[in-house]
Amino acid sequence: MKLLQIVGARPQFVKYSPVSRALKALNATLSEPVQNVLVHSGQHYDYNMSKVFFDELQIEEPAHHLSVGSGSHGAQTAAVLQKAEEVIKFEKPDAVIVYGDTNTTLAGALAAAKIPVPLVHIEAGLRSFNRAMPEEINRIAADRASTILLCPSTTATKHLAHEGFENIVLSGTLVPLGSTLASLNASFSINVPIVLNVGDLMYDVLLYSIAIAEKRSDVLSRLKLQSNEYTLLTLHRAENTDAPDRLASMLAFAGKASSGRPVLFPVHPRTRKTIESQGIKLDGRFLVVEPLGYYDLLVALKHSAMALTDSGGLQKEAFWLETPCVTLREETEWTETVESGWNTLYRRYSGTHDLTSPRVTPYGDGKAAERIVSFLQSAFSSRS
Ligand code: UD1
Repeated sequence: MKLLQIVGARPQFVKYSPVSRALKALNATLSEPVQNVLVHSGQHYDYNMSKVFFDELQIEEPAHHLSVGSGSHGAQTAAVLQKAEEVIKFEKPDAVIVYGDTNTTLAGALAAAKIPVPLVHIEAGLRSFNRAMPEEINRIAADRASTILLCPSTTATKHLAHEGFENIVLSGTLVPLGSTLASLNASFSINVPIVLNVGDLMYDVLLYSIAIAEKRSDVLSRLKLQSNEYTLLTLHRAENTDAPDRLASMLAFAGKASSGRPVLFPVHPRTRKTIESQGIKLDGRFLVVEPLGYYDLLVALKHSAMALTDSGGLQKEAFWLETPCVTLREETEWTETVESGWNTLYRRYSGTHDLTSPRVTPYGDGKAAERIVSFLQSAFSSRS
């Protein structure tokens, strides 16, 4: 059995790492190991947007590097689509795996579905219900092209049920650890896609990494920050960064919401470009640094008094690390973090978080990767 996995953007490297580890553990128990071919699209290419994650999370060198680089949505998606198709045809995998909602996700999904090779979408079923976001289009299209839809939460499975997916395992509750096609009494085909709730891979990687990160990262001393006495800000979404007025107003909001604390601001390259080209001025409270690696980011987030972000991953990481978060968007896919009180949309932020609700665990148990590999192994080895 052969899997081909396509990654290309920062959060995908993070999500891939526990799957790669779980596959190695599974292979140690099998007489015929699962072959695993990693493909990097090249959507992210700066050291601190790509290689740092491979180094820290000990991810193997990709077997294929498509080196597409930046471009408009159409150009970038088309370049990945064309090159991914060639690689999939060359490797002839039993299944192609894509992660999340980036242009790499969409392109990999289309390439696989059109050959056709069964497509596995990890982080399926998320919806912001805002089709102006490029990510929303990418998710919907990837889900429609998929054969196996692996959701991070029950809410995500409900969205898919609502969109007409019928083959939903265990009504969308978290499947038991070690689930196989047989143990779930399930079946699927490219015309009858299957939906499973496996939990969120980002929880796996956070649980695995936080102690290592605390040991290795010197981010606080390096940046002369005191635990609990600064705010962490990240901003990279097109809707916030491409319109200069919107970016300026988000930065003004961040300055105000931080109420006198310094604002640690690791800047995504696209955000830096808009700030520089538009001459947006940041006052002395902002500590502007290059994008952080995964370990530095976890430690910086854990010790911050509050996080302000438009990143999906950071909203959940803040929730798991018990750091109050304000989301700099009009809506969020991660609604459970808002219901719990730990996350607030910026328009509703009144200066405090209501943390009286009991803590919930909507995104699995940190063992999503184990679930994913045992299910995929049973799903594809029974076919060959
Ligand atoms: C992409 C994803 C977004 C995800 C984010 C994670 C899409 C549509 N968006 O957004 O969902 O949350 O990754 O970080 O796929 N750039 C560099 N160096 C790099 C990468 C990018 O300078 O290594 C600059 C380029 O100017 C590029 C811009 O950043 O044009 C945007 O990069 P791109 O990959 O298109 O989108 P992201 O904003 O990173």
